[in-house]
Amino acid sequence: MQSLGVLEISRRDLLVASAATVTVASTASLSHSQTNAPAAPQSTKTSFTVNGERRELQLDNRTTLLDALREHLHLTGTKKGCDHGQCGACTVLVEGRRVNACLTLAVMHEGESITTIEGLGQPGNLHPMQAAFVEHDGFQCGYCTPGQICSSVAMLEEIKANTPSHVTGDLLARAEVTPAEIRERMSGNICRCGAYSNIVDAITEVAGRKV
Ligand code: FES
Ligand code: FES
Repeated sequence: MQSLGVLEISRRDLLVASAATVTVASTASLSHSQTNAPAAPQSTKTSFTVNGERRELQLDNRTTLLDALREHLHLTGTKKGCDHGQCGACTVLVEGRRVNACLTLAVMHEGESITTIEGLGQPGNLHPMQAAFVEHDGFQCGYCTPGQICSSVAMLEEIKANTPSHVTGDLLARAEVTPAEIRERMSGNICRCGAYSNIVDAITEVAGRKV
């Protein structure tokens, strides 16, 4: 036993007190880490129309439209290239407008109408743009092709609606389908095989211009 003036503490008392302090400290630290634990993922029932068919999915809120299409609906025609908005391989049409499906969450499209490459046309009943890509050899490996085709279909509608692009010279004139306009408007769709000139030819033909 140690003598500390009026206070006398045995070695055993000291050890018990230290152990109690450690227990309290670790309990506090545990409850602190429990408080900061990440929240459990939330899921939402989401329904939209895909290629004319009503689909309802229970999805983790973080699911991209691309993963909903590929992993949940098994529509694997839409491709995952970069998964962060750089290549255009995942392009689909949402309410007729082209969208990078990897950059948007599925739950944001409740009630909307989505068209993928499978919905544009099928073997034996190809969309004119699909047929033109075949005729003009607008692909090599084909990985970028579903995105190129979806993008080009919507792009021609944008020109019809007189939406200007970065290379449109006269903003008051009607937008035209020129090779420069096509290249600029399709610049978000990357082709690693370099089939660009044939892609431009295919789009030009569908637009009703001479290649
Ligand atoms: S996969 Fe979406 S832009 Fe590349
Ligand atoms: S055809 Fe291969 S990436 Fe475009």
